[in-house]
Amino acid sequence: MCGIFGCILRTDDASSAIHKGLKKLEYRGYDSVGIATLQGNRLFMKKDRGKIDNVHAIHNLDSLPGRLGIGHTRWATHGAPYQVNAHPHTDCKNQIAVVHNGIIENFAELKTELEEAGHTFRSKTDTEVIPHLIEQKMKNGLSLVDAVHETVKRLDGSYALCVISVKEPDKIVCARKESPLVFGVNEDSIYVASDIPAFLAYTNKSVIVHDGELVVLSGKGYEIRNIASWELVKREPEIIDWAPEMAEKQGYPHFMLKEIHEQPLCLRNTLRLQDKYLELMTTFLDRAGEVFLVACGTSYHACLAASYLFSKLSFLATHPIIASEFLEQHGKSVNIDSTLLVVSQSGETADTLEAVESARLRAATVLGLTNVVGSTLTRIARVYICQQSGPEIGVAATKTFTSQLSVLSQLAVRLAKKRGKISHVEIEDIEEHLEQLPDIVERTIQGKEEKVKQLAKKYSGKQVFFFLGRGVSSAVALEGKLKLMEISYIPSLAYPAGESKHGPISLIEDGFPVVFICPKGDTHRSIIGNIMEMKARGASIIAIIEKDDEKIKNLADDYIEIETELPEILSPIPFVVPLQLLAYYMALERGCDPDQPRNLAKSVTVK
Ligand code: AGP
Repeated sequence: MCGIFGCILRTDDASSAIHKGLKKLEYRGYDSVGIATLQGNRLFMKKDRGKIDNVHAIHNLDSLPGRLGIGHTRWATHGAPYQVNAHPHTDCKNQIAVVHNGIIENFAELKTELEEAGHTFRSKTDTEVIPHLIEQKMKNGLSLVDAVHETVKRLDGSYALCVISVKEPDKIVCARKESPLVFGVNEDSIYVASDIPAFLAYTNKSVIVHDGELVVLSGKGYEIRNIASWELVKREPEIIDWAPEMAEKQGYPHFMLKEIHEQPLCLRNTLRLQDKYLELMTTFLDRAGEVFLVACGTSYHACLAASYLFSKLSFLATHPIIASEFLEQHGKSVNIDSTLLVVSQSGETADTLEAVESARLRAATVLGLTNVVGSTLTRIARVYICQQSGPEIGVAATKTFTSQLSVLSQLAVRLAKKRGKISHVEIEDIEEHLEQLPDIVERTIQGKEEKVKQLAKKYSGKQVFFFLGRGVSSAVALEGKLKLMEISYIPSLAYPAGESKHGPISLIEDGFPVVFICPKGDTHRSIIGNIMEMKARGASIIAIIEKDDEKIKNLADDYIEIETELPEILSPIPFVVPLQLLAYYMALERGCDPDQPRNLAKSVTVK
């Protein structure tokens, strides 16, 4: 889960372009960084452990000469985040440099073979076998391109990699298997990266590298070949309609806060999606024998909420399942009548793709909901919908979650119409409220942010939190918990509120903070009972409520009011916003970096 970047420029400052590109990829991993450039037939390299800004302050990453180079920002998998394990990695003579994102599963046996052939290894990484393998091939007379080709054919596992060599200083050779890779072209330069935002400031003409492809980039342009058949592949650049500033902070202190504030716009985008794909996906769901809603993390919470939507609106029973458990729980029962609705903002999460792959092998139908056009999920799904939230840079998913919920709600409403299970009046009511959601979320952010900020200050000393909700709000409780844990590092628990009396309530003591998600509707009466249970044991009640909910206002120690009434089934979208803000301001209160939480990365591309 690293970020890789490379470029070939007309001018002699590739290193500063690479430095800027890596900064845009820092959300993918930030425990060490390195850059290598070529000038004439000399290789220049700087790398060290730590975040890019700290390493730059010590080593000045902009000072390497040359108009061609590669760089890497790391999230360690093999070998602790020390300088020696930072990328780029080189061969014995420091003539070949490689940056890599992914995992080489057979690196141990390759390393033994190369050591027996006289190669000396410096690091504990899996990646270092690649430059030594290429060195060996070139020693046997192969060109750089052929040496990389032969090398990748020996690698098991996942990789997006870029290679440069003093022997052929005019090109960058790249290859991809599973891990994401894309390159951008403009009239006088060429860029390659793990993600489009990294080079969006230079060009919006991008070419996605598909699995099993090798690409040669040079000042003359690019050449794509299929690794297995070695056939040439023709592919024109696609215009990406993301403005560069969409990948900037635009005056917000953090990407997370910017992305929370972008939710009204993103929700409006979800209401403008192409009808034909929504209709096509609805038809597949309608015909499905059984439906699995498969995802990880926040996307899984969207799936859990969707299971209530599909059941309540379209009378469709679905199985929300955490992707990393899919194989164990359903691997054997999946069949040609099974349909997987797979949700992944990045479209690259390895656990999710593994579940999809196993289901495809059993002829199941795969439908995809993602935020990244060209991602692996879009290429393996039978039908996919791109939710149009724009790049999400903050590691904590916010705008992509509410957009996922909006798309899933629209699918459930369409299925309800198709199946005629609920009255037209109810459908119209839900559709009307769906249209109003962007404004409702806008008013919630503008009207409640300050109050949430005060709550974060008040409760920032607490050592543990409970999040409780009933029905569809149990998914919101899980999401509130995840946000608080992942960016403010406060241990938190979340349960369907009815479950709390079967054990978790034993934790409650005076002042124990319990956050209740309480939309009006079928669950309102029961949630009041749960609040009373907690209050009777001294808990501090923080309630997310609807306008004028006097009953809960009188019970709660603190409350955040969502200034509207809406069908309970749509409540997760506005009700999660105060929880996103609570986590953000709690992180600030505790001196944590909301955009780059420790031990995490935006796209989890290893299993
Ligand atoms: C959420 O804030 C986290 N970043 C993480 O749980 C994330 O939702 C999960 O890794 C799934 O990512 P995806 O939607 O890109 O598949």
